[in-house]
Amino acid sequence: MRTKIIAGNWKMNNDFDAGLKLASEVFYMVNDEIIDPNIKVIMAPPYIHLEALSRRKPINRKLAIAAQNCSEHSHGAYTGEVSAGMIKSTGAEYIIIGHSERRAYHNESSGQLANKVNQALGQELTPIFCCGEELSIREANTHIEFVKKQIEEGLFHLDAESFKQVVIAYEPVWAIGTGKTASSAQAQEMHANIRECIAKKYGKEIAGGISILYGGSCNPGNAAELFAQADVDGGLIGGASLKSRDFLSIAKALQNS
Ligand code: PGA
Repeated sequence: MRTKIIAGNWKMNNDFDAGLKLASEVFYMVNDEIIDPNIKVIMAPPYIHLEALSRRKPINRKLAIAAQNCSEHSHGAYTGEVSAGMIKSTGAEYIIIGHSERRAYHNESSGQLANKVNQALGQELTPIFCCGEELSIREANTHIEFVKKQIEEGLFHLDAESFKQVVIAYEPVWAIGTGKTASSAQAQEMHANIRECIAKKYGKEIAGGISILYGGSCNPGNAAELFAQADVDGGLIGGASLKSRDFLSIAKALQNS
């Protein structure tokens, strides 16, 4: 059975105190209201919060902390960078890799992302590997091929055992922060194609075990319909993860799916 995952990407929001407040609310609510043992609720704050949140997190397998990025290198003279090993030392368990904002604003290439995936796995951290097309690509009707290529280039160098550790997040760029969600049919179509391309490379069993999350303007109003799709195993949530009640109600929609 695939793990159902709801991951909140705070992006560059919340100073130290605001982050602690939001995280405490989420910890409290998840402890009380998410009872499905197959659900993971992840918060991905900026680096400054990783250690404090990991330390304050109730001992509870439902909750985990993620970083939003890591260096492609293990250590050394890379001013401003943070390594996967450093992230591991905070107690975080996941790293978001290849978010479209990193690809677009920091020109992260597929080769760099493949290295970041290796760094995360080398520290026994779970990469949440993001993929997704811009609007022009969807309009040209080449979105399926485009996303497949992102996955091949970022992940298909892995052997089967390593690949099994990965989580994938499909986030159409045109839906991120725009209030314009992919329809549940569009999400399902892409997720099914991603799973099929994984099956071709690693076999049906492995493909069937990989959690594929949807991201892009997911909110309490549309989450249930998205999560009802056969190949949508949860969500990567931006804006709506900054309000504990909204984030919890998305987690509940996943629990009820
Ligand atoms: P959004 O962001 O939910 O605010 O659209 C999703 C993401 O970028 O991960």
